[in-house]
Amino acid sequence: MSDRKILITSALPYANGPIHLGHLVEYIQTDIWSRFQKQRGNQCYYICADDTHGTPIMLKADREGISPEELIAQVGKEHLADFTDFGIEFDNYHSTHSDENKYFSSLIYERLRDDGHITSRSITQAYDPVKEMFLPDRFIKGDCPKCDAKDQYGDNCEACGATYSPIELKNAVSAVSGEKPIEKDSVHYFFKLADFNDMLKTWTTADGHLQPEVSNKLAEWLEGGLQEWDISRDAPYFGFEIPDAPGKYFYVWLDAPVGYMASFKNFCTKENLDFDEFWAKDSKTELYHFIGKDIIYFHALFWPAMLAGANFRTPSAVFAHGFLTVNGEKMSKSRGTFIKARTYLEHLNPEYLRYYFAAKLSAGIDDIDLSFEDFTQRVNSDLVGKVVNIASRCSGFIKKRFAGQLSTHCSEPELFQQFISANEEIAALYESREYGKAMREIMALADKANQYIDEKKPWLIAKEEGKDQELHDICSMGINLFRLLVTYLKPVLPALASNSENFLNIPEQAWPTDVEPLLSHDIKTFKALMTRVDEAGIAAILEDSKENLLKIAEPVAKKFDPIADEIEFDDFAKIDLRIAKIVKAEHVKGANKLLQLTVDIGDETRNVFAGIKSAYNPEDLEGKLTVVVANLKPRKMKFGMSEGMVLAAGPGGEDLWVLHPDDGAVAGMRVK
Ligand code: MSP
Ligand code: ZN
Repeated sequence: MSDRKILITSALPYANGPIHLGHLVEYIQTDIWSRFQKQRGNQCYYICADDTHGTPIMLKADREGISPEELIAQVGKEHLADFTDFGIEFDNYHSTHSDENKYFSSLIYERLRDDGHITSRSITQAYDPVKEMFLPDRFIKGDCPKCDAKDQYGDNCEACGATYSPIELKNAVSAVSGEKPIEKDSVHYFFKLADFNDMLKTWTTADGHLQPEVSNKLAEWLEGGLQEWDISRDAPYFGFEIPDAPGKYFYVWLDAPVGYMASFKNFCTKENLDFDEFWAKDSKTELYHFIGKDIIYFHALFWPAMLAGANFRTPSAVFAHGFLTVNGEKMSKSRGTFIKARTYLEHLNPEYLRYYFAAKLSAGIDDIDLSFEDFTQRVNSDLVGKVVNIASRCSGFIKKRFAGQLSTHCSEPELFQQFISANEEIAALYESREYGKAMREIMALADKANQYIDEKKPWLIAKEEGKDQELHDICSMGINLFRLLVTYLKPVLPALASNSENFLNIPEQAWPTDVEPLLSHDIKTFKALMTRVDEAGIAAILEDSKENLLKIAEPVAKKFDPIADEIEFDDFAKIDLRIAKIVKAEHVKGANKLLQLTVDIGDETRNVFAGIKSAYNPEDLEGKLTVVVANLKPRKMKFGMSEGMVLAAGPGGEDLWVLHPDDGAVAGMRVK
């Protein structure tokens, strides 16, 4: 039929968490397109992989006490099992932590570098002095500098929507160690995106590469001029070391899209296919990336620039989709509208969801909402009530009255032809990713088929004498129309289609551009092809997702609560408490809570900053005794080094007391 050669991808899911229903919008959307292309007779490959690199994955493995390699192996298996059980059929599923990916990432980097598109310079970033690592923004938490909301991430405030740099955050702590981050310099490598400004202006506006709304959005960005893109991260990092820069690693987003090539290369090796035919600069094949709207910049700017700069072909198109909301709310781990693919699979038929998403999807980037009421209603009325019902209404008579054989002729050739002719329109809708419209078109045909049966009333004719031929013709017609309906639905409902093919006793159905009706053909006994949505299943999914929530919402590093949590004796034994004499106390310029104290701890004097200005004038403190933690690691504070911690009692503010000045205590005494 056609000799199109098509390579398609879905975004590579991160290996630090499970597949959830939001992800599935994309994988189902892509899978439908892939199955459609294959059904049309095109040579089409659907490629994906796990995205395995980066700080979150490294830290997660750390917390679980396993190596990152072990973590990604385990998660990779779970991802693939979830996808497979949802009927998502990849031609290859690989990993970005692979030899192929290391090879292509290095190759692309080296080509860019050799052409002068890479530069390096030192930058200052937040650093965790305990974990000894640089902190990505989302691993820094603190109070919003605008509205003071507590516990906000380092880049934006969920309470007031402000965006800022982690350095502006108040009372910032590292989410990894709970420690206050310090600032530290290091050399980073940058991709000079601006070198590709013209190329990208052309690429992003050329017909068919991007959806119009995406192209317009990017035009605003391109007008503003492109910044250099930081593509390196310092050790410790789980990723690929940069070839000419020991201790520096490719940022996960550098090697992630290269994972598309890597997975395909891996596939080519196994299947003996020609990699270059698909990726060389002059390739005649088609390359499409399906992605969510949150990662457009990576795919529509960085990735085409990387490919062009490294002398590879650029994508034929990038197709972005919107985000899934559940019952009208944004899916969010912290809010509990987060449903794992596996949780769904434990309770409901995956094809319900495939159909529901298909019915809601368009070629645009609008968000789509999963409302379980609407879900139930659509599945029950369309699939069970309209489509499967035709087969169940007609097959009984064929079996009982006609020994399971269809009539010798087609009684309504025009109606049959109408169903065939619809194939072009339906194909055009699938091709342009207007699945919702395609589903409506198919359901309009299903309505027609049901109308036909309703008018002919086979259940009445069956009771009349001498009307066997008519009954046989009507039911055979119904079965023939059913066959076309499930063939049109095959990209969306592969299991329903395959079970129907089995029931109809026919081979795998290609796209029905022109097929003959099944005549004098034996069919098998009808078994329920799809049942109505079980409401208890939905309730169970929602219930189970509440349990998930508690596990998922656990903070990255659980902060110790000194009031609620207990410490071990060993923890206590570690603290060196000493009586200290305050020999000098001074105001600190620019600090509104701190006093600078010089304390005598017996064998030495220490410089300590203490937040007790609200309770004491410096001169009242001199000569007083207090207790200090003598072996606290020195901390660099804004005003200088603090070499210990002064203990005071009281609720705070003016009510705060250090030790009484006498009672026989002397500086240097250990507190036991
Ligand atoms: N690892 C990156 C992609 C690298 S591609 C070279 C990533 N991973 S992800 O796991 O966060 O998301 C994978 C895909 O699922 C992305 O395209 C993302 O947009 C999509 N979705 C994740 N959550 C989604 C919803 N709630 N709704 C719809 N799509 C969503 O991004
Ligand atoms: Zn705020």
